[in-house]
Amino acid sequence: MFPRNCWYVAAMAHEVSDALFPRTLLNEPVLLFRRQDGSAAAIENRCSHRRVSLHLGKRVGDHVQCGYHGLEFDGSGQCVRIPNQERIPPKACIKAYPLVERDGFLWIWMGDKALAAHTPVPDFSAVCSSPAYVGRRGDALRVEAPYTYNLENVMDLSHVSYAHQQTVGTQDVAETRPRTTVSAHGVEVHREWERTDAAPVFKRLFGWSETRRTQTIRFWPGANIQLDISSQPVGNTDPALVRNIRVVGPCTPETEGTHLKFSTMYRDFALDDADITQRLADAFLVTLHEDKVLMENQWRNVLADGAGAPMVDIAVDQAPLATRRMLQKMALAEGQGQGQGQGQGQGQGQGQAQP
Ligand code: FES
Ligand SMILES: [Fe+2]
Repeated sequence: MFPRNCWYVAAMAHEVSDALFPRTLLNEPVLLFRRQDGSAAAIENRCSHRRVSLHLGKRVGDHVQCGYHGLEFDGSGQCVRIPNQERIPPKACIKAYPLVERDGFLWIWMGDKALAAHTPVPDFSAVCSSPAYVGRRGDALRVEAPYTYNLENVMDLSHVSYAHQQTVGTQDVAETRPRTTVSAHGVEVHREWERTDAAPVFKRLFGWSETRRTQTIRFWPGANIQLDISSQPVGNTDPALVRNIRVVGPCTPETEGTHLKFSTMYRDFALDDADITQRLADAFLVTLHEDKVLMENQWRNVLADGAGAPMVDIAVDQAPLATRRMLQKMALAEGQGQGQGQGQGQGQGQGQAQP
């Protein structure tokens, strides 16, 4: 069950080029491609004739030609050609999805189309499109676990003390009770320290042993995450030594039990230093895969043990539980029941603004 009346990331912009790019999103087969002018389109990855996947065909100009009997479709889902036949029945059209390219992402709307125009596309421009930050955008990471597992993972960063000890984990994160703020629009979790151990990756990069540090993570629907980390030497008065790292990390349900992570790490220091770029990217990839292993293990065990197997909530679950409740409420407002993913329509796109 996931809300459908939200903008989700369909792909990183660089993942979609001239080739036909199939992807399952919110349980639906979607085909992404770019027209000759570079604009991207998203249509159903099914031919209306005999339901063959359209990515098995090819691009013909701005159209997609089915690889079986040659029907052609444009980026709005209109069937524009049937070989040897002049009349194109209206039923030959297929579904198309609103798609917006922004901040290096392709944002797709898979809910009630009437609501899309009234719902702002999530805005990460302050990081992703700012010259003050540099980041190297990776590809999507597929995780075999529900997308809520990822949201709950990042909304409770106490796990970094145990799961990410080689990169960003220090013991004080788990030992520090965060300040959690829940609003109608999202959830925010904040921790800060005047003096604490530097993250292992910062020790290696800068030789810092202790730092003054803040950590703020925000969630807002559909599945948007931004993590802001600020570090500086203890007692520092030089603004140039304040290092800011921002992780932009939306994710998208693929199916009920799988999701795609679109995380990218940005920084506002050493912008031209390729060595730091590489070392930070390597450390980031390590953490992403450590989380993937844990989430996939968690999901396999839930499937094996049954939904009724007991799980106990602890204090750090405050933000994850608030996040889960917010999404459940939105899905129910759209008329979806537990275990379903097809409800449409009653939600008004609330909760799209950033907290
Ligand atoms: S299945 Fe696509 S044209 Fe026949
Ligand atoms: Fe993690």
